Amino acid sequence: MARTTKKRILVASGVNLDLLGKREPEIYGSTTLSTIEDELRKINPTLAKAFGLEAAELIFYQSNHEGQFLEKLSEGWDGAVINPGAWTHTSLALADRLAGLKLPFAEVHLSNIAKREAFRQHSYSAPHAVGVCFGFGSASYTAGLSGLYAWLAKQS
Ligand code: DQA
Repeated sequence: MARTTKKRILVASGVNLDLLGKREPEIYGSTTLSTIEDELRKINPTLAKAFGLEAAELIFYQSNHEGQFLEKLSEGWDGAVINPGAWTHTSLALADRLAGLKLPFAEVHLSNIAKREAFRQHSYSAPHAVGVCFGFGSASYTAGLSGLYAWLAKQS
């Protein structure tokens, strides 16, 4: 059987990101999560090609349930773009899972967490990421995916 080189990439958004568009738009913008997903779907073939990846499929996921979110990360992805929301700053469980899984991921945040409250300036998950991208609104997801593809391309 021919081996496929198609990458399967999870784009996972955590707690409260289902509220994007109506949640504190002055901080997170007015773009909804489904619009962000559409933007990624549209640019994905161009990005994958630009980094020499034969093909990459994006699978989108959002959950407000931490346990379900953690289990989703274990489904054998080639890489992930993850916005953990508030779990970024609170969840040792997420950090431990990411450390254990060895899943290459880009951590992304819409807002510039470096210039927000002190409790948002620490990420438990970031040390396990390939890279982190924040402050660009919905474009943080695109930039994170781009960085992840650059990293994946270097591995092959
Ligand atoms: C966020 C930043 C977090 O501090 C916050 O709890 C979120 C969204 C962002 O995308 O800017 O829910 O991850």
